[in-house]
Amino acid sequence: MPRRSANMNVMVRAAERAGRALIRDFGEVDQLQVSQKGPGDFVSTADLKAEKIVLEELRKGRPEFGFLMEESGEKKGTDPSHVWIVDPLDGTTNFLHGLPHFCVSIGLARDNEVIAGVVFDPIKDEVFWAERGIGAFVNSRRLRVSGRRRLDEAVLATGVPFNLHDEATIDLYLTQLRPIMLQTAGIRRYGAAALDLAYVAAGRYDGFWENGLQPWDVAAGLLLVREAGGFVTDLDGARYELGAKNILATNDQLHTKLTEILVARRS
Ligand code: IPD
Ligand code: CA
Ligand code: CA
Repeated sequence: MPRRSANMNVMVRAAERAGRALIRDFGEVDQLQVSQKGPGDFVSTADLKAEKIVLEELRKGRPEFGFLMEESGEKKGTDPSHVWIVDPLDGTTNFLHGLPHFCVSIGLARDNEVIAGVVFDPIKDEVFWAERGIGAFVNSRRLRVSGRRRLDEAVLATGVPFNLHDEATIDLYLTQLRPIMLQTAGIRRYGAAALDLAYVAAGRYDGFWENGLQPWDVAAGLLLVREAGGFVTDLDGARYELGAKNILATNDQLHTKLTEILVARRS
C-alpha cells in the first residue's frame, strides 16, 4: 500500500472517529424501534453528532479549507480552492431501520475537482480511500473495478426514488429500470450511494446508476471508481462533474452498453 498523504490521514481519522460514534448510536436504534416515539429524532441527532466530529477533526488538520456538508451546508475557508465535501451518515434510512449498511463519506475537492476521498463503513470496518493519481484501496488492499464484459452476467446497484410525488421522475426511473431488469444478472438497492460507488470500485458491483444525487453522496465514491480504473459519467456518457443530476459508474466494457440503454431515457 502506498503511503497515505497528510490530507488522507486527516480524512481517515475524521471518518473513523465519526464512524465509531455512529456505531455506538446504532446499538441504541434497535431499542428505539419498539418505542412509541420511534427512533427518528434520535437518528437525526446521531447524524448531526457525526457531522460535528468530522468538522472538528478536519478543521484541526486543515484550518484553512472550506466545507460543503449535508447537514450544515457551505462554510467558506480562507483557502478558496480547497473544499471538504461531507456526508456524515450516508444510508440514514438503513440506520433508522436497524439495517447495518451505512457509512461516512468525505471528499476533498481542489478547484472543484475531487483529489481525495474516503468512504468508511464502520460495521464492516472497511476504509475505502483513494487519492488522485495514486489509486484506490480498501484498508491496505488495492481496488480494481470488475472485468465483466457481458451485461447478462452483470450485477448493478441503483437508488430507487422514494417519498416522491413527482410523476415525471418516477416514470423516468421506471423506463430506465425495465431494460436493465431484462438484460442484467440482477439489480441491488442497498441504500447508501457512497458505498454503492465504493463497491463498484471494489468490483463487487459491475455498475451503479442513480438520479438526483447530491455532491456529498458521490464526491468520495466517484474518485474511488476512477482510481480503480472505472468510468463515472452522467447518463449521456459525459464525464461526471460535481453537481450533475444523474450518475453512471461502471467499467469500460459495460459503459457503452449501459449509456446506450440509459441515454434514451435520461431526464
Ligand atoms: C441517501 C442514500 C441513498 C440514496 C439517496 C440518498 P442519505 O443518502 O445515499 O442510497 O438513494 O438518494 O439521499 O439521506 O442516507 O444521506
Ligand atoms: Ca447521502
Ligand atoms: Ca446523509
